[in-house]
Amino acid sequence: MNTLAIAEKDLNKNGFLDIDVDPTLDLVAEINKLKKEKNAIILAHYYQEGEIQDIADYVGDSLGLSQQAANTDADIIVFAGVHFMAETAKMLSPEKKVLLPDLKAGCSLADSCPPPIFRKYKEKYPDHVVVSYINCTAELKTLTDICCTSTNAVQIIESIPKDKGIIFAPDKNLGAYLQKKTGRDMILWNGSCMVHEIFSHEKITKLMLRHPEAKFIAHPECEPHLLEKADYIGSTSGLLRYTKESDADTFIVATEVGIIHQMEKQTPNKTFIPAPPNNTCACNECPHMKRNTMEKLYLCMKHEQPEITLPQWVIDEGVGSIDRMLEISAKAGL
Ligand code: 13P
Ligand code: SF4
Repeated sequence: MNTLAIAEKDLNKNGFLDIDVDPTLDLVAEINKLKKEKNAIILAHYYQEGEIQDIADYVGDSLGLSQQAANTDADIIVFAGVHFMAETAKMLSPEKKVLLPDLKAGCSLADSCPPPIFRKYKEKYPDHVVVSYINCTAELKTLTDICCTSTNAVQIIESIPKDKGIIFAPDKNLGAYLQKKTGRDMILWNGSCMVHEIFSHEKITKLMLRHPEAKFIAHPECEPHLLEKADYIGSTSGLLRYTKESDADTFIVATEVGIIHQMEKQTPNKTFIPAPPNNTCACNECPHMKRNTMEKLYLCMKHEQPEITLPQWVIDEGVGSIDRMLEISAKAGL
């Protein structure tokens, strides 16, 4: 059996092609060559490591990435992000090959809402509209009326008639933030992001005292007691824009640290302090996002594996929730 056949056999176990890569190989040059040869596009989330962001054709937040996946004319979409993002790309462009460097790049939010349990839960509220954060599985999207991302969530909630009840899944923190922001009463699924739940209130308070000139900025996946302290709350693209437009020079940033790569590129003269987690681990790095590496990206483009495949019924029944989201976003100019 050749190396590739052995590696393919291990895909289910490891989630990626476990093939040795020559350490002297110029991965940037090789990946760029493969992009051209295969008419492939690399879409990367802001939480990817800096090198991956720098080689991507597009770097953005969950909304921007979905819009790119829906509109690209590339033959292959290489998703440098997590599983639910690549699934969304596949649902929007089912005729294209969608690759994810590591199939085990998951998401604690998506895992917190298993579709069979959610189906039963939803049956208790037959008249409610289901809004799901895009950070959920493709199957959960089949049980969803409209998806949202952190960029368009307010507009999505406001598009729903006021007399309609809303179930919001799976992020309870984003849900609570939206309740406050829109004044709508919503039933919240009890899920959360492992990265945004780990920030230390105490350490952030000390940092704010040490840097009174700094703005504290946070992603709405953070817990309510942290959001209460924030000078600005927004999606990753919102946070990035805020740091550019603000007069401030120093920012304490409460989201996954990968975004700081773009912030430093955009305004190299400003200072960005990552909000510290409540222990000594590097828990403000998403372990799922960081499963992708340059080596895995190269291997997946070379061998066109691992590939995202979805049952046809999941695409047929789930894509409407994403299309609705994209329509409302376009109308809102997002
Ligand atoms: P946005 O890309 O919408 O800011 O969400 C961040 C996130 O947690 C993605 O997994
Ligand atoms: Fe999921 Fe949180 Fe990682 Fe985003 S940062 S992929 S929400 S676990």
